[in-house]
Amino acid sequence: MSEKALFHQLEKDIGAVLAEKHDDRSIIEGVKPLLQNLLENKHLLPKDLQVSLPGKYAQYLLYKPQNEAFSVIAFVWGPGQVAPVHDHLVWGLVGIYRGSVVEKRYRRVDHGEGAFPRYEVREVGEVTAKQGDISFVYPPDYDIHGVANPFDEVAITIHIYGTDIGKQPRHIHDVATGSSRDVITKHDNAEAVYH
Ligand SMILES: [Fe+2]
Repeated sequence: MSEKALFHQLEKDIGAVLAEKHDDRSIIEGVKPLLQNLLENKHLLPKDLQVSLPGKYAQYLLYKPQNEAFSVIAFVWGPGQVAPVHDHLVWGLVGIYRGSVVEKRYRRVDHGEGAFPRYEVREVGEVTAKQGDISFVYPPDYDIHGVANPFDEVAITIHIYGTDIGKQPRHIHDVATGSSRDVITKHDNAEAVYH
């Protein structure tokens, strides 16, 4: 099957999951084997997109359907590159295609009106994810994380989100103060790799 045909099949398969499942956790369970399948495909990413960019991790849209019910993204992490602590406000899965990344998980705790600072972004766990591993996010309690590649080799991660994540208004969180700022993280490619 060509990669293009693979993504058209994926659209059918995710469509079937979304028709049947209605809560984020069930959707994630349904999509997980589909992401597993993508991670095993050696030709998923064109060679020229497998190199890291200077200064910042690269974010490439691989595919999204016309209705933007989901998007598949490749992130390429050079040694030392980091994504600050952020949320997604939509379900998502993160699979490791090559190399390893360290993922720190956080939960936002509301200390209530009048408290100062009102919010705390509390670290709740850290994992080193290796090739083939899949983790997930969904709001509100499993949605905040930071990702880093502290290793010497490039890491590539493949993500599936329940919307076009390149257009999704969301937040970067300041762990020290509990405050957040609005952000939209656009893709580094103008057009999806497959369409
Ligand atoms: Fe993320």
